[in-house]
Amino acid sequence: MKFDLTNYLRPRLLALSPYQSAREEFTANGREMILLDANENPFATKLNRYPDPLQLELKEQIAAWKGVSIDQLYLSNGSDEFISNIIMGCCEPDRDQIVIVPPTFGMYKVSATTHGVGVVEVPLTDSFQLDVPAILARADASTQLIFIPTPNNPTANNFDLEAIRELVERFPGVVVIDEAYVEFSSNPSVIPWLETYPNLVVCQTFSKAQGMAGARLGMAFAHPDFIAFFNRIKAPYNINSLTIRAALEKLKAQDQVREQVKLLLEERSRLEEAFAHIPFIEKCFPSDANFVLIRVDDSTLRYQQLIDKGIVVRNPSKNLNCENTLRITVGLPEENTQLIEALLSLSKTL
Ligand SMILES: Cc1ncc(COP(=O)(O)O)c(C=O)c1O
Repeated sequence: MKFDLTNYLRPRLLALSPYQSAREEFTANGREMILLDANENPFATKLNRYPDPLQLELKEQIAAWKGVSIDQLYLSNGSDEFISNIIMGCCEPDRDQIVIVPPTFGMYKVSATTHGVGVVEVPLTDSFQLDVPAILARADASTQLIFIPTPNNPTANNFDLEAIRELVERFPGVVVIDEAYVEFSSNPSVIPWLETYPNLVVCQTFSKAQGMAGARLGMAFAHPDFIAFFNRIKAPYNINSLTIRAALEKLKAQDQVREQVKLLLEERSRLEEAFAHIPFIEKCFPSDANFVLIRVDDSTLRYQQLIDKGIVVRNPSKNLNCENTLRITVGLPEENTQLIEALLSLSKTL
């Protein structure tokens, strides 16, 4: 069945004439212009002008880095903003729904709910993998989107790539593959699949391996028609000048990012080995990310004991099939050593 994107975009938004900020068409060729169009303060600081609404300089470099064209790329104020954008853009409130695969990243449900959009939950299998037949069985005419984070949060594992491909091929709506942790993963990105699948959207972020969580910068990759739609509905200046500058610098420092990722993966192995010797850690789930999910005897108790020792981890035990789990981010080597020591000392007082 041929995929028709217009079936998945809200008609009233397709008809919208976007907010115009026309400055770039006059300044793009480098011509010096007197800018009296945007009610800014004319006294020059590095921040007195609005940023480029389409972030073209940054997008050119990200597009070259990721092997896509600029018209396949959209930048957002963190992936969180993009998740909100795509739900708002594709789902009619009080009619449409999204599919999520719990235990999964919490913002999909929060965002859908704030937009008045329904949420269908299709649990992962016992080994935290996608249940493709169950997902396909639950999708119907009002199912616009499915969100698949891989590696998944909070479980930390990759989903099987062939299962993801089957979903992209057979799911009737738009499939969002959230690759927030892709730099840590042993699976490659599915960005090259964009050439084959017009219903695929991939998102990545500068918040994790790139070390820029405070700057809020997300990337979404999709068919140019989809990207053009996002550009029409977005807030005009959603990426600020400081973030654009910081990201341009970060792109020059990818060797350092690769080294940090390598070190963090080594540290993850060190943590996994240490966890095997802690009696109250019953299971350490396989991780393809910069965090590890463990099952303990009593997650509320262990969480509080770690807080008392000055270490904050996450207790995702309220998530489906995550009873008595803790989610632990891989920190600096000395932080990980302190965590291991804290866990060992708690074991002694068992
Ligand atoms: C799977 C997943 N997607 C997206 C995000 C949010 O990314 P951002 O900081 O770019 O909003 C997170 C953050 O924890 C995440 O785990």
